[in-house]
Amino acid sequence: MIYISPSILASDFAILGDQVAAAQAGGANMIHVDVMDGVFVPNISIGFPVIKSLSSHFSIPLDVHLMIDDPDRYVDIACESGADILTVHIERLKDPASTLEKIRSHGVHPSISLSPGTSIESVYPYIREADMILVMTVEPGFGGQHILPETLVKVRKLRDEVNRRGLRNYKIEVDGGIRASNIADAVAAGANVIVTGSAVFGDPDIASAVKRLRDAAETK
Ligand code: DX5
Ligand code: ZN
Repeated sequence: MIYISPSILASDFAILGDQVAAAQAGGANMIHVDVMDGVFVPNISIGFPVIKSLSSHFSIPLDVHLMIDDPDRYVDIACESGADILTVHIERLKDPASTLEKIRSHGVHPSISLSPGTSIESVYPYIREADMILVMTVEPGFGGQHILPETLVKVRKLRDEVNRRGLRNYKIEVDGGIRASNIADAVAAGANVIVTGSAVFGDPDIASAVKRLRDAAETK
């Protein structure tokens, strides 16, 4: 199964609810929420009040991606705000296993992410502690960038590693620069959770954009 997770970073925040509803109508499986602090990444986005509002109005799972300097400080509030999946960056964790365990103790799916410059092997010790691994396919911080093709080599290596361990259907998420023209390449490399920001919310017909992406993902 392929999960499509549109990133609201590219949405019109003045009409966020309508746009999330349109993505859901188009068949989105979850909604990706990018939290940025202006320290870990050179951009500031949105935070926990928005997650709380979305979770009180929508039942679609919220796939929350923390791009912040000290994620351990904010894990509790992120979980309590309504995250269903919570992704933290390995580059900022002192003890990744304990952070993932803390997330799980809230009944939230723990996930770990790595930026393009971080080796894929660095997450191998945490494959079992996490329910998902998010492989960044652009430098984190901004929507609308072009995919870095070498990051799909990391996805392939990770899929081979989880297969070697007998973990069927393990979630591998790709995030950044995914559009209809390259989504099938990401899936062929082994990704099964696909974040798409501008390719969905930059389209005047959000629901059709999600459908088009799913069709493109499934044809190759
Ligand atoms: C980038 C974010 C992404 C971004 C994706 O730092 O993590 O989730 O919103 O947007 P597109 O699909 O436009 O690259
Ligand atoms: Zn993201």
